[in-house]
Amino acid sequence: MENEAYWILSSEGKNYEKLKKDITTECLIVGGGIPGITTAYLLSKKGVKVTVVDAGKICGGCSGRNTGKVTSQHNIIYSKIKSEYNLKKAKSYYEANNKALNLMESIIKENNIDCSFERLPAYTFTESDDYIKDIEDEFEVCKAIGIDCEYHKSLPLPLNIKAAISFNKQAQFNPKKYIDALAEIVIKQGGEIYENTTIKDVDKRKLNKITSEDGYVIYAYNLVIASHHPFYDGMSFYFARLEPERSYIIAMNKTKDFPKGMFINVESPSRTLRSYEGDGENLLLVGGEKHRVGKGDEDKNYYDILESYAKEKFGEDEVKYKWSAQDWLSTDHIPYIGYINAEFDNIYVATGFSKWGMTNGTVAAMIISDLITSGDDEFKETFTPSRSKSYLSKEFIKQNVNVAVEYISGMLRCGDKEVSIENGEMKIVRIKGVDYGAFKDENGKLFIVNIKCTHLGCELRWNNCERSWDCPCHGSRFDYMGNVLEGPAINPLKSYGEGPNKVEPNIL
Ligand code: FES
Repeated sequence: MENEAYWILSSEGKNYEKLKKDITTECLIVGGGIPGITTAYLLSKKGVKVTVVDAGKICGGCSGRNTGKVTSQHNIIYSKIKSEYNLKKAKSYYEANNKALNLMESIIKENNIDCSFERLPAYTFTESDDYIKDIEDEFEVCKAIGIDCEYHKSLPLPLNIKAAISFNKQAQFNPKKYIDALAEIVIKQGGEIYENTTIKDVDKRKLNKITSEDGYVIYAYNLVIASHHPFYDGMSFYFARLEPERSYIIAMNKTKDFPKGMFINVESPSRTLRSYEGDGENLLLVGGEKHRVGKGDEDKNYYDILESYAKEKFGEDEVKYKWSAQDWLSTDHIPYIGYINAEFDNIYVATGFSKWGMTNGTVAAMIISDLITSGDDEFKETFTPSRSKSYLSKEFIKQNVNVAVEYISGMLRCGDKEVSIENGEMKIVRIKGVDYGAFKDENGKLFIVNIKCTHLGCELRWNNCERSWDCPCHGSRFDYMGNVLEGPAINPLKSYGEGPNKVEPNIL
């Protein structure tokens, strides 16, 4: 079974051409996921001339590879924001996400989008005595904010629940169907979309000059960077303020009743659950096994672990789909949305959704479209990337110490002298003092790539579940042939014989 998200397989979407000419636009949006396409929708509805470019397909990244939960319940978050900041900030975060949820429902209704949108309660639970206090604290803060929520000592799940909190009237849907439909509306509203168009260079000006990999120039008064990890940094060091995390999802044929609701636990190992009915499918989605990118256990098959869990707890037996997703976590749990830094007034960023990209991505679209059309938004201060705690938290310092350790240990590691490689196997080989990753595919074709990350030079780690090279420093990922799967790296890995990798931080 090929690893691919059910959402992506369930909705083909339209094909959009690659950019093959120079253009001028009022607003260029880089990234065709939920923040980019929703921003394009809101702006084009107001008559702004928008252009969206994506390095791959629309909704081909994380927006199409999540669990499709549309909720303002983001595990334990409101008590964390209150203790990091205050109740007012936690309330503002809730109001923004609740407004996003309602906006998505009204867009779906207004445009008759068939995406299995369904209102349901969302639950955060624990099976451990150690986390009961966290749930109690979260419930107390949620009540103080005024959220429609309830506390539970048990749930209708075959699990040993110790405590849970539910938010009423949340939602789940098929994210790819939603975004594909929204993209078509953007075109009808006068916008343009180009796929397979990678941006290589930004020259910041009043009329920004943006250049594609093929050398075509886009002049844009406003530039919105909604490319998951920002491809352009504006000297704002986003790569050091974002922690990349990977998690895994399986979708099984559902043969037994599953309660109406979406569920996620607090403790480790992480578990997230929902059902899906549509297009003749009746599925139970089970996700979890999160780990920092490049820090997974090579000997573990995370899909098998989730399958065993699902069989044991829910008795289902056929895995129909499996996929994984990469999330970018901010240092203080709040995404970075707004002007890319305090100096720039026509370049915007949306990143760090910390696993809750459906509503947070829509919040990004609300804020950025307001900033572009009126210069103001009611939530701009809550999410501004220029807030001081996004740089100065203990987590930020810890994360960068981790980066330094990874860099040094990568330099000291010795390669494997054994070069006999089986089909489907990867080995590190040292050739003329340089470590390479050698992978042989099912047909016996050998790929040998330089495993120095092309972002800042950390040594890459092999991810056996996804057959990818993952960077433990800032989360870049490459396929076994060396192509970039996830930034911040922009250059591919070179194969043996092509010379050293082009290391380019792309922060200027
Ligand atoms: Fe920064 Fe690899 S992503 S060094």
